[in-house]
Amino acid sequence: MSKTNTNESTTVTAAEPYNKQTGTQKQTISQPGASPVTVSYSQKLKTSKEFHEFQINHTIVISSIKTNMENYVNGGVPMNLNLMLQQTIDLSHSCKTSLELFDMVHNLRASDDSIYAHSLNVALISRRLGHWLKMEQDELALVTLCGLLHDIGKLRIPAEILNKPDKYTDEEFALVQSHPKLSYELLKPLPIDERVKRGALSHHERCDGSGYPQRLTQNDTNDFALLIAIGDVYDAMTAARSYRAPLCPFQAIANFERDGLSKYKPQFILTFLQHMANMYQNNRIMLSDGRSANIVMLNQNSLSKPIVQFDDGSCLDLSTQSDLHIQSIL
Ligand SMILES: [Fe+2]
Ligand SMILES: [Fe+2]
Repeated sequence: MSKTNTNESTTVTAAEPYNKQTGTQKQTISQPGASPVTVSYSQKLKTSKEFHEFQINHTIVISSIKTNMENYVNGGVPMNLNLMLQQTIDLSHSCKTSLELFDMVHNLRASDDSIYAHSLNVALISRRLGHWLKMEQDELALVTLCGLLHDIGKLRIPAEILNKPDKYTDEEFALVQSHPKLSYELLKPLPIDERVKRGALSHHERCDGSGYPQRLTQNDTNDFALLIAIGDVYDAMTAARSYRAPLCPFQAIANFERDGLSKYKPQFILTFLQHMANMYQNNRIMLSDGRSANIVMLNQNSLSKPIVQFDDGSCLDLSTQSDLHIQSIL
């Protein structure tokens, strides 16, 4: 296991420079008879009324999570879990479609990458996956709560260690990897469902036994942990890192495929990747060589590499192109 401060085991380098200030990736599109114009999907979305409303509410919920968690961890003040949960559910419901929700979350990357924003995003993503898995409402609420609380143990670890850009020492690595246990200890006295506590304890376990802290396999890990694990890794992949831009959804799908699906519960990961890829059917994308095209059909055996159609009508099956991938959604 590598001693880096990330949930990911593989990275994809962006072809275009990433502007961490604006959270955008420049996309230059040539139009016949005109000078190339620089546009980005982010810039378009960020001018919409819906985005501004979501951004305000997202900030309010993060602030609520921060206050509740800090007061509890530092002063033993009980958290208002019902409020945190209801605010998160309301935020989820404010998006009319799953696509809208993921677009919003993707485009808030530059504004806040704190533990609190990550916790909220994991709750939103995991809740959506639970919905796709047809979970009952009471279970969906518990999964959402588990997403909100899974990393609370990180508040027991000094921020300078958590955010250290260099490699960890052995001691630092052990401390960071203890955060699921610290989460469990903090949640243990709370009057909440045991599955939420176990979900936090085991969210870094992997079905093939390669996770931590107990190297459990699928049969010994509860479903909440196995579900949160996917939301957690997806959020980490699609967050900005100092060494790369946020990955676009298809790059994240490719990473899941490359890392081996055996790490995740098959029903959960296949449902997640299928829905993610389906959401972007018919979307316009930019390839890693700078060409733009439309997604026209998915490849079931390679969801990150669909068949695309260029503006001249020609089609290309990306699954036959080892050196070409989807760089961004336009
Ligand atoms: Fe974690
Ligand atoms: Fe996490």
